[in-house]
Amino acid sequence: MLTTKFLNHTLPTPIMNSAGVFDTTEAELLHLDKIPDISAIVSKSTTFKAREGNDHPRYFHDPYCSVNSTGLANYGYLFYDEMASKLTKPYIVSVASLDSIEEMKHVIDHLAKNPKITAIEINLSCPNIVGKSQPAYDFPRFDEYLKTLTTDLTKPWGIKLPPYFDNQHYKEAATILKKYKPHYISCINSIPLALHIDPIKETYSIKPNNGRGGMGGLSIKQISLANVQTFRQLMPPETVIIGCGGITSGLDLFEHILAGANLVQIGTQLIRETPQKATKRITQELQQLLIKKEYASIKEVIPLCQRGERAMPSVSIDHTPFDESRPLLGLCPLQHLSLPFEEEGALPPSFALPYLDSEV
Ligand code: DHB
Repeated sequence: MLTTKFLNHTLPTPIMNSAGVFDTTEAELLHLDKIPDISAIVSKSTTFKAREGNDHPRYFHDPYCSVNSTGLANYGYLFYDEMASKLTKPYIVSVASLDSIEEMKHVIDHLAKNPKITAIEINLSCPNIVGKSQPAYDFPRFDEYLKTLTTDLTKPWGIKLPPYFDNQHYKEAATILKKYKPHYISCINSIPLALHIDPIKETYSIKPNNGRGGMGGLSIKQISLANVQTFRQLMPPETVIIGCGGITSGLDLFEHILAGANLVQIGTQLIRETPQKATKRITQELQQLLIKKEYASIKEVIPLCQRGERAMPSVSIDHTPFDESRPLLGLCPLQHLSLPFEEEGALPPSFALPYLDSEV
């Protein structure tokens, strides 16, 4: 029911981890490889040299959002190259644009020669490098990066896009992407730059960059849906779109499919709940939802923007009055499909990626 094609693979679910989550160390990557509902693994964005990243605490989440300024902590590209032979699932290596464009090209060309690597994910949207802007927000540089990095690249490649908020920016980004024809686009990377304040302790919740980092979690869902939908409309229909941002439940995943995503990447919720528990629950919820809606498979779900007006189902909308006592996710009409977040006391105040212990 959830079988999804990705490049030349047939995946049992449309779910991957998003780059940066449980994918830095060997133990984490091997752990993801064992989780049945994660169908493909994305590495932490790698750079030419290993990096320790920013000072701790550099990750925070609450029930609404996560804020993260890891600073590209990773073991360097040779480590992620070697990991390919230890993993059984399709494996995507994310490559960040920290170094010079030539160094990034060297990294990508080296990884492209490894037959065990499924694809390269080009990350031109890391928000946390102080003093460097994101190439994906600077269109002439964006074009230059893609030209240099993808001309003659034989390995399938995708690109992690930042969120866009402006119609003209969407058009310019899509014009460049159409020139270089990525095998997939992933919408969206974290929203730059968000600030979380702890009003009790009167501190910033993360240390680097005056508390500012990339934002993820449920609060970014509407922005990611808008990006998926807009690129679904602007890009050729065969473009694979991976939806990323705010997926906490089967219902959120379904909304990404309705917006136009073919697959999804999940980040914050894997940290909140553990990868095993989150993906098992989300998969079950999605399956129940499809059955309830009488879809035989996920492939039957057509993005809203591709439905003719007359084909839209005519439903009466139940304007239930707002009830303050309902929990956050209870506001959605299919609330029974979403588990409530953990008890407040059970939320860890901060995670210290990438040295997370995984439970499963
Ligand atoms: C980091 C990289 C990202 O691409 C992102 O969205 C957030 C954080 C990092 O390593 O700091």
